[in-house]
Amino acid sequence: MKLKAARGTVDLLPHETKKWQYVENVMKEVCESYHFEEIRTPMFEHTEVFQRGVGETTDIVQKEMYTFPDRSGRSLTLRPEGTAGVVRAFVENKLYGSPIQPNKLYYFAQLFRYERPQQGRMRQFHQFGVEVLGSADPAVDAEVISLAMTCYEKLGLESIKLVVNSLGDEESRKNHRDALVKHFAPYKDELCSDCKSRLEQNPLRILDCKKDMNHESMAKAPSILDYLNKESEEYFNKVKEYLDVMNIPYTVDQNLVRGLDYYNHTAFEIMSEAEGFGAITTLLGGGRYNDLTQQLGGPDTPGIGFATGMERLLMALEAENIQLPVDESLDCYFVAIGGQAKKEAVRLIHELRKNGIQVDQDYQKRTIKAQFRAANRLNAKYVFILGEDELEQQIINVRSMDSGEQTEIPLENFIDAMKEKLLGGD
Ligand code: HAM
Repeated sequence: MKLKAARGTVDLLPHETKKWQYVENVMKEVCESYHFEEIRTPMFEHTEVFQRGVGETTDIVQKEMYTFPDRSGRSLTLRPEGTAGVVRAFVENKLYGSPIQPNKLYYFAQLFRYERPQQGRMRQFHQFGVEVLGSADPAVDAEVISLAMTCYEKLGLESIKLVVNSLGDEESRKNHRDALVKHFAPYKDELCSDCKSRLEQNPLRILDCKKDMNHESMAKAPSILDYLNKESEEYFNKVKEYLDVMNIPYTVDQNLVRGLDYYNHTAFEIMSEAEGFGAITTLLGGGRYNDLTQQLGGPDTPGIGFATGMERLLMALEAENIQLPVDESLDCYFVAIGGQAKKEAVRLIHELRKNGIQVDQDYQKRTIKAQFRAANRLNAKYVFILGEDELEQQIINVRSMDSGEQTEIPLENFIDAMKEKLLGGD
């Protein structure tokens, strides 16, 4: 039997990883400019972190987690999302006591969800995410949203849409919840089986149901925006004001509820509107979670963050025909002719690399002609030619593949000369 990658997983081969590295670097640079710092948390956690963090009634916890007992019988779970683990680490490492507040963190993570795979939905996928812990200033909400938009802008994405909503504070949500139960109860028998249980456990999630989205009860469902108390409304207005002054366009969607339980106040998503993108268009989801830190055993600490799926982001770049400026070239290729020359080549290549110069050579016993062909294929900028004659004269031939020009360089000056050419000297 041929071994294949497990369903819902893919291999990222070098041609792809070049693009990923470019995208990741753009994000890191944007994070730098926003003064965010990287956090790396474990790929698995005690199952309870997600049960308590993401919420018992969510699809993620009920249906999608890779949960297993380890050899000592502890229940562990491969992380299905990044926020709960970051908040667990924040509490455990007492980052709330750090003199620098708020904590502005970013991460790249591999996530695992047992979902039905389709384009843009995998069982193992990657996210870039940020979390800010320790401030309830609406300017932070706007900053986090603007960070996401800046990343997309720097990558050249244009067909994107930002959607925001407020889920309000606890009081607002409770009033809205009661109104939802009252509204949907008469339709209970007509709703799907998931929504029947959502009605009792988590009625807000009915608004996000794909099966019942066209049911007549949906259009008239009570809007959270009509149940925001004064404080929550003022908070949301401030967030929108800050987005306005940054000229960040957005739409308010009162049905945006998000699939995880920890959200309150600001919730937002960014979708791709590129033609041919596919059925699942959400590139990014995020929001405020002021109660999560306490739920995970820490002190009362407000938080907000987002995560964007890397696979979907790369799909969006492709759908918009954006050519990422990835470098497919090689600085130098070393052609050594004869055993002595090869030995000297091994030494020189080692020196060049120590000096920060990228260089490769033949390991396939190719003929000289074939080595030049290989250098061409690899887009080498320079080819070095070292044979017995050159060795005797203590020189090396350096050919510029762009101009075709070939120069002889004394071996003793070779490393410095190449540093000058490629790195502009010391
Ligand atoms: P989420 O909406 O579950 O939020 O996921 C965020 C993004 O991850 C999605 O918009 C999508 O791009 C990507 N994603 C989710 N599931 C899959 C999948 N099965 N395959 C491929 N991509 C996927 C969260 O995870 C929250 N932790 C976001 C957050 C951070 N909220 C506050 N802080």
